[in-house]
This record gives sequence, C-alpha cells and structure tokens, in this order.
Amino acid sequence: MKSNKNIVLIGMMGSGKSSIGKILSKKLNLTFIDIDQKIEETEDCKISEIFNKFGENYFRKIEEKISLKFLSSENSVISLGGGGFINSSIRKMCRKNCLSFWLDWKNETIIKRIYKSKKRPLAINLTKSQINNLIKERSKFYSLSSHRINCDKLDKAEIINKILDIYEYK
Ligand code: S3P
Repeated sequence: MKSNKNIVLIGMMGSGKSSIGKILSKKLNLTFIDIDQKIEETEDCKISEIFNKFGENYFRKIEEKISLKFLSSENSVISLGGGGFINSSIRKMCRKNCLSFWLDWKNETIIKRIYKSKKRPLAINLTKSQINNLIKERSKFYSLSSHRINCDKLDKAEIINKILDIYEYK
C-alpha cells in the first residue's frame, strides 16, 4: 500500500538529494521541492551570497522557516539542505510528516564532489580532514532518519528503486 507521507531526502552536500529527488517525484507523480532553491527564491539571493552577506546563523534561521513550511505540506518529495536535519525542529517535523531517507556515501566520494566547490559556501574553505570531521559529526544526526540508503555500490536507478520499494510498501 502506498504511503501518503512526504519523502524527504537527507545527507551531505553532494549526495545527490536534488537529482534523485527530481526523478523520484516524477515517478510518484508528487511535487518536487528543493529547499535550497526555495530559500534562494524567497531571499532573491544565491545561497553563497546569503552566507557571504549575512553569515551562517542568518542562513540557518531562514532554512528552518522554509524547511518547516514545506515539510508540513503533502504529496511532496523534498530535498533538504545538508545541514537541515541537524536542526531539532526540522527533524521533529520530518518524523511527524515524512519518511526520511539518508543518502549515505563513503567519505571519499563526498569529498571528491564538494572539495573546493565554489557553489558550496560551507565547503569551500574546508580541508579534506575538516570535511571528514563534518561528515562524522553530521552522521550522528543523519542516522536518526527513517531509512539509510548505502549508495556506494548502486547506480542512480538502483538508489531510486530502493526508495520506491520502501515507500510503496510502508
Ligand atoms: C549546506 C548544504 C547546502 C546548502 C548550504 C549549507 C550544509 O545544501 O543548504 O550551502 O550545511 O551542508 P546541499 O546539501 O543541497 O548542497
């Protein structure tokens, strides 16, 4: 039987939340919501500019407000920002209204994708060892998700099928 809960994708920057979320939403005929994109639309400003002009704390406040708004909607596949699930109010709303899937990858894969990435204000100044530490810290929270998908040996279609299998039989 199909669940009527939202699907929320969580995990580090570079874990494929947006690209996988888009395909999933099409397959399930649900609305796709990318929280980073909603933040940029609301603020009329790129995420990197928000970080540069107003700082991370300001970004986190906006992120909380926008995430809570969309997590409380229905029939959606939601791609959360990489830091979203660290926030306890956001986690609580995910538990209440969504099935959450952690897209988990080996640290090396994530590092390869985000190291020195100009699009990622949080990662751009981090050394590889600092990214390793960030992944370690965040994994404690990510592991509180409803389901963990070990993505390393899977291609995109297989990751999507795993999520669909779980979602459709919940
Ligand atoms: C962040 C991840 C980004 C974005 C912001 C902060 C983080 O989203 O929300 O740059 O703290 O990990 P993605 O995970 O979609 O890249």
